[in-house]
Amino acid sequence: MKLWGGRFAKATDALVEEFTASIAFDRRLYRQDIQGSIAHARMLVRQGILTPEEGEKIIAGLEEIEKEIEGSQFTFTAAREDIHMHIEARLQEKVGPVAGKLHTARSRNDQVATDLHLYVKEEAAAVMALIAGLQETILGLAERHLGVIMPGYTHLQRAQPILFSHHLLAYFEMLERDWQRFRDCRRRADSSPLGAGALAGTSFPIDRQFTASQLNFSSCYRNSIDAVSDRDFVLEFLAAAAILMQHLSRFCEELILWSSQEFAFIELDDAFATGSSIMPQKKNPDVPELIRGKTGRVYGNLIALLTTMKGLPLAYNKDLQEDKEPLFDTVDTIKNCLTIFAPLLASMEVKEENMARAAAEGFANATDAADYLAKKGLPFREAHRVVGNLVRYCLEEGKGLAELRLEEFRRFSLAFGPDIIEAIQTKNVVAARTSYGGTAPGQVERALQEGWALLAQKQGKPGP
Ligand code: ARG
Repeated sequence: MKLWGGRFAKATDALVEEFTASIAFDRRLYRQDIQGSIAHARMLVRQGILTPEEGEKIIAGLEEIEKEIEGSQFTFTAAREDIHMHIEARLQEKVGPVAGKLHTARSRNDQVATDLHLYVKEEAAAVMALIAGLQETILGLAERHLGVIMPGYTHLQRAQPILFSHHLLAYFEMLERDWQRFRDCRRRADSSPLGAGALAGTSFPIDRQFTASQLNFSSCYRNSIDAVSDRDFVLEFLAAAAILMQHLSRFCEELILWSSQEFAFIELDDAFATGSSIMPQKKNPDVPELIRGKTGRVYGNLIALLTTMKGLPLAYNKDLQEDKEPLFDTVDTIKNCLTIFAPLLASMEVKEENMARAAAEGFANATDAADYLAKKGLPFREAHRVVGNLVRYCLEEGKGLAELRLEEFRRFSLAFGPDIIEAIQTKNVVAARTSYGGTAPGQVERALQEGWALLAQKQGKPGP
């Protein structure tokens, strides 16, 4: 007999049972579901809707069920549809008809919304901690290799020399915004839908503020219809996850390029790389490739739920059951990616000389030769043209700018003086970019300090 079977003359078709059941995936919410039910039961007692004895029986039963599930002594079956029905049906078996009073002044609609809010809050905090851990790894790496120069790229062409640490710190900043996005998502999920009922509230004298505070929510949804039909908080989580993965994927793409023989800027640790079944020489960057690849499914999960939500009439519709799998899959995926990323980075070898050599080749100092002329009074456009001609000359001669003699420079412009030789040395080029947020060592050291301070501030704090 179904918990809602009273109105039905026939048993549910087995196909329908299978098709509508969510237990295969929503069993993951058992802890939040029991937590929500205990808070609800306490409130019902407090409001005189249940007797204290009834409340005690129900709560004790729920606590035992939690242990049964944790000890794998609990039977799951599609016939009981979802986690809410499973727990309530089991409660019936354990404490008898009084179990039926638990659902007073409640609907599965506000129940599932409550479970999911609790879940998103917990997982957002867990993800924030993992992001902070990865940020810490990045800061450590940037600190260890401070002073190492590499080419910075635009269009994947060597553009200007930069500090490797400066490049790494760009990812620190992206992750900082990701962390903030999860914090914001968590703040907005921090509102209790419990007590909204099926959609319209209830005629029982419930106390929503009490259940909210029992469950550590800092507020209640103001509108009962909104409370049961909104999944913005899940979408925000999925969107924050999609952006996070986009950042990880860009970083991974660079690790993959850098570990190719063509770049040879890094070498992944043997423990974090894989081999080929046919080519004995191969060392493949499978881990960063897989993170890059998994970005697709995380984007897909966001689009899936956005599409499910689009055009849904208020309030609850069974379509909403489709919110869970994309969320769970995204949670697992991003936690796995963040967890493996930190040791992957920490263990890789940085080939400092290769980076430095690449930075010294390829005219990465051409902008500085033009800047030199502009500082001597030439209009920048004119300076740009002069240095362009110089570069063409160098290409014909097979030389770099730094290898030219002063008289060669002066053939192209008399504004060149002896100090041009120093001005375009890679090290000096990097040191000259002292503008705020630039790549000069002083700026990068400041950014590192600020990074450590930010990290210290958030350590051990999942958010307000
Ligand atoms: N399993 C359902 C879900 O995940 C729970 C809510 C069911 N409510 C309903 N009115 N059928 O959405």
